[in-house]
Amino acid sequence: MDIIQLHDKKFKPFISKEEIAKQVNRLTLKIANDLGENETPIFIGILNGSFMFVADFVRGYPYNCHLTFVKLASYQGTNTSGKIKHLVGINEDLEGKTVVILEDIIDTGNTLAEIYKIFEEKNVKKLVIATLFFKPNVFKKALHIDYIGMSIEDRFIVGYGLDYDGLGRNLPDVYQLKED
Ligand code: IMP
Ligand code: MG
Repeated sequence: MDIIQLHDKKFKPFISKEEIAKQVNRLTLKIANDLGENETPIFIGILNGSFMFVADFVRGYPYNCHLTFVKLASYQGTNTSGKIKHLVGINEDLEGKTVVILEDIIDTGNTLAEIYKIFEEKNVKKLVIATLFFKPNVFKKALHIDYIGMSIEDRFIVGYGLDYDGLGRNLPDVYQLKED
């Protein structure tokens, strides 16, 4: 892994694909173990950033499950805008179901707050939040997060589904913004 350039910024190697695979697998087995074989959860991936995480996550899930995606956006460039847009809604009937939200990263928690607002009206049996990455020093909300893959410092990352202004989603490893 080398320093890469996306648009005007340089990024340095941060988390290898092997380490990501290990953490995703750990998360999958933990959730499978906690929910058990008799529960058939609906996994809901938050697009776009979660697509790679969700693909690897569900591939390792050993029991029956449903899968769908919802699209929200709160980020432009490397600064959070604080504004949330609900772009694509969910059509499935979630009433009485165990819903597991799969997020790529929780930063300020603005997106998570929106997720709670949307899913609290759906009369689900249980709402579970799982995120691959979490920035504990930026998170400003009193909202519960059930599962965290990796807690990371407050610096912008790209790769494994995450982008910087549209670039970097395809990278199998995660890179961190290089300041100098
Ligand atoms: P939040 O609403 O501030 O928690 O941010 C949530 C969304 O912003 C995530 O789902 C990502 O799409 C995006 N985001 C937050 N931090 C980063 C980052 O370091 N790199 C790329 N995208 C990020
Ligand atoms: Mg996201």
